[in-house]
Amino acid sequence: MLSERPEKQSEIVGEGQSPALKAPQSGTVPTISDGPLLEATDLWRSYHRGSETIHALAGLNLTLAPGEIVSVVGRSGSGKTTLLNQIGCLDRPSKGSLKIAGIEVTGLKEQELVRFRRDHIGFIFQLFYLIPTLTVEENIRLPLIFARKHDEQRVSELIERVGLAKSRRALPKQLDGGDMQRVAIARALVNRPKILLADEPTGRLEKKSRGAVLEIFQELAREGLGIIMATHDPELAAEADRKIEISDGRIVAEEALGERTKSEARCQKLEARSTE
Ligand SMILES: Nc1ncnc2c1ncn2[C@@H]1O[C@H](COP(=O)(O)OP(=O)(O)O)[C@@H](O)[C@H]1O
Ligand SMILES: [Mg+2]
Repeated sequence: MLSERPEKQSEIVGEGQSPALKAPQSGTVPTISDGPLLEATDLWRSYHRGSETIHALAGLNLTLAPGEIVSVVGRSGSGKTTLLNQIGCLDRPSKGSLKIAGIEVTGLKEQELVRFRRDHIGFIFQLFYLIPTLTVEENIRLPLIFARKHDEQRVSELIERVGLAKSRRALPKQLDGGDMQRVAIARALVNRPKILLADEPTGRLEKKSRGAVLEIFQELAREGLGIIMATHDPELAAEADRKIEISDGRIVAEEALGERTKSEARCQKLEARSTE
């Protein structure tokens, strides 16, 4: 089972800390009572190739609530990456409305969009994209430097949280894929985003590491982070609160995966762990 616990709980939450007892560290993580984190309405992204027009997104609607994990599935070329790139403000939709944390981002100027992305969005990718010449902690600190912020406590807290305390001075090439993705997750979170976007986050990972990534996501969701993950991995997709399937840039199927049951299961698992 993908949702099996990692071998050591400390790999995720840090030595001696029970996730159930651990209060959210950030004052900026929204609570469930805040409005939706995301409202995408009639979203289009069209590409022109010669005389041909490709609609990578063709009138897509999607919402995301704080604390919700949504998986996005669909065959290759269906528009998953394009969707995440619009939500992540890495690209602009051709048409439609995209509200993130209540702010319509389609009207933002380039500089404002860059700042908005930096402050509100975390992104992780299949290929990690770590800087090979920087250590684990330097990679995680990098977005803070870009934001001209200094927060060593946040860096250390995240290193503990993703279970990399022993590797903080290692270079990426000294890590396995699972640990590289942990670095990427910590780096994505260092500026305290409201939404975490993950494009095929487990595509290059072995099963054990896939389970660990999922566990980290579930912990983060419990604290209010909204997560959208595009994946080819059916087991990972099934662990979300909601699964959407897209084809030709539209949602063709949507499935609530027993949100209540799942969050209850999460609580039970955490309780069981905290009494170990
Ligand atoms: N920069 C681009 N220029 C032209 N077509 C693109 C570009 N990016 C994506 N597409 C096209 O948009 C469609 C959706 O691609 P993508 O979002 O990458 O799908 P997925 O992530 O589901 O594999 C595909 O037909 C792809 O070829
Ligand atoms: Mg893709």
